[in-house]
Amino acid sequence: MNLLRRTAFPLLLLVLHAFCSAAQTKVTIPIETAQNALVLQTDQDKHLSIIYFGKKLAQASEYDLVSAQSRQRDGNAGIYNSAYTPAGSWSISEPALQVTHADGNKSTDLVYVNHQTTREGDNVVVTSIQLKDPAYAVEVTLFYKTYSRENVVEQWSLIKSAEKGEITLNKYASANLYFPGKDFYLTHYNGTWAREMNPEEEQLTAGIRVLDSKLGTRANLFQPPSFQLSFDNPATETEGKVLLGTLAWSGNFRMDFEVDSYHNLRLIAGINNYASEYPLGPGKDFKTPSFIYTFSENGKGEASRNLHNWARKYRILDGEGSRLTLLNNWEATYFDFNEEKLSGLFKDGKKLGVDLFLLDDGWFANKYPRNDDRAGLGDWQENVKKLPHGIGYLVKEAKNAGIKFGIWVEPEMVNPKSELYEKHPDWVIRQPQRPEHYMRNQLPLDLSNPEVQNFVFGILDKLFTENPDIAYIKWDCNAITFNAHSAYLEKNKQKQSQLYVDYVRGLYKVLEKLRAKYPKVPMMLCSGGGGRVDYEALKYFTEFWPSDNTDPLERVFMQWEYSYFFPALTQSAHVTDWGKQPLKFRTDVAMMGKLGYDIVVSHLNEKDLQFSQQSVATYNAIKDVVWHGDLYRLIDPKKNDFASLLFATKNKDRAIVLSYLVSNRNGAGSDMAVRLQGLDAGKKYKVKELNLYPDSKSPVREDQVYSGDFLMTAGFNPVVNARRASVILEILEIK
Ligand code: GLA
Repeated sequence: MNLLRRTAFPLLLLVLHAFCSAAQTKVTIPIETAQNALVLQTDQDKHLSIIYFGKKLAQASEYDLVSAQSRQRDGNAGIYNSAYTPAGSWSISEPALQVTHADGNKSTDLVYVNHQTTREGDNVVVTSIQLKDPAYAVEVTLFYKTYSRENVVEQWSLIKSAEKGEITLNKYASANLYFPGKDFYLTHYNGTWAREMNPEEEQLTAGIRVLDSKLGTRANLFQPPSFQLSFDNPATETEGKVLLGTLAWSGNFRMDFEVDSYHNLRLIAGINNYASEYPLGPGKDFKTPSFIYTFSENGKGEASRNLHNWARKYRILDGEGSRLTLLNNWEATYFDFNEEKLSGLFKDGKKLGVDLFLLDDGWFANKYPRNDDRAGLGDWQENVKKLPHGIGYLVKEAKNAGIKFGIWVEPEMVNPKSELYEKHPDWVIRQPQRPEHYMRNQLPLDLSNPEVQNFVFGILDKLFTENPDIAYIKWDCNAITFNAHSAYLEKNKQKQSQLYVDYVRGLYKVLEKLRAKYPKVPMMLCSGGGGRVDYEALKYFTEFWPSDNTDPLERVFMQWEYSYFFPALTQSAHVTDWGKQPLKFRTDVAMMGKLGYDIVVSHLNEKDLQFSQQSVATYNAIKDVVWHGDLYRLIDPKKNDFASLLFATKNKDRAIVLSYLVSNRNGAGSDMAVRLQGLDAGKKYKVKELNLYPDSKSPVREDQVYSGDFLMTAGFNPVVNARRASVILEILEIK
């Protein structure tokens, strides 16, 4: 004891001394939002590290003390908490940056040069930190764009080379994060066509867990670039530390989650470097896509509301605007239609009350008519047999019927049985010496080729120029990239390993040009369902098609999972004939997102038609809350007999609660009250059931007044059961 007392003081002094002397050379860079902080710091060698991640500390000066308390680095073992891990020098961890220099050397080091902070309005700050390799003329600028109120960080990197010869980027991540901690739980998603967004949660163990895609076009078919990461324990909707992360890139991605020897987690996210070593000439730079994330100490609900608020305000095209309800003819007709049939459908759409009619696949190609999915893709001229008077006539007919007109395109693809393929075999992605390999009988066009970019732009430009009243586009993409090879890159003596990246860049160029000329027209991002959705594409698209699977039972689960990342107004949800559930259930589930129909209206019996007309009107009355309100997921369908979720207005004067039975078991349903969220405890509310099927009665008493406190503490039972498989409630403040 005495010994301890005697030795403790000098030891303390020693620690303080070390701290003070290092402090003279240290540069500390806090990246802060309203709630959180990511703190970077240089060491005596000017290497930039992450010393803190999490809830913001009240005193910024104390960030310095954090790293001393956990083991974040071990120089002997080459393990560091680097802010952008270079390869081939002092670090042996999975790199964020790996370069082959012009002289063939494969080592890189990065030291801090300077940093600056730029304010963009009252909520947005961009911090850029310049790093350079002391031995080679390579520089990296790390960008951190913070959205304070939303607690969202957008992070990307800019890699520059001033070497005399060409260098190669072997790995070039968008973001490198480091989380000291103990236990980490990763929720990631797998899927395939019609089975999108199946979540799996796992505890991360030592080593590297990789989430990635190598599919090229339709990159997310098996896995989206979005995940949830819980710290210490699996987070719930209302409790726990959780990070929602997503990469804004519509192509191959890779995310490395590396748990190191001290149980700390390194996350490296960016474009997948698989077959994608990227050359960088003298004076050239490479901008990575953005990695976007939000962190909450209060569970997944708060995290996803933050992400939604950010996405609507800053990211999604017309994110704070409105959307069109529609009637689509895909499942009603497939490829089999003509002008007369379509004119009838326009009238049906009008009868239903939706805003727009969407003409799907099958309207084009003549030499090889698009009568099934085996031919015609690429030949974007109206099929004269089906549409002798052209699209212009249809737009006019729709107008006469009192409905807007939209159209399907799949401009990035070609069927080998097409005039386009015959004319431009060199525009197609394929290996010249190998047999072609198809998905849905088609191949992607080579968007790294500027001529192909012009062609794709031209398809849309022609449609809009000839038919300025076209009010909506569904942009599809139904094949992945096999046999990745570009005749264009070969001809221009560029590297084949550029193709995956240049394809996506080419796509963005087209979309950029399109939006410059047609800034507002709503467009649905479709890729045979959830094959492609991310926050770079959503700069150009107003909504996406979550899945071709429209069985409402399946959709409850899928839409639930997508809702962690994307707000309801982006999720197209159509009432179709998939599934065995009654029309009311199918309709109520579609109301969870952006409502549309893909049914034969004339086949509806009188009551179903009446109900559907009423549903469109109901949806119009609640859509503002669903699209722009705050989402609270109340009862998880994965763990319960039913799902329940609530959208509340920002000022908490109105909420919509949607509940769906997902179990067939005897007695399944809502035995108990559901605790609502997002209301004001001090306000008074009435509850009303909406969208009842004709002649049915609600057990909900409309005259009862409840306090917000009651509804959120004691709760409210929506009475979901086999006879009431879906229930929509409106909670309205009494003023
Ligand atoms: C894809 C889409 C469908 C439909 C068809 C048309 O599968 O996901 O909604 O548009 O293509 O061929």
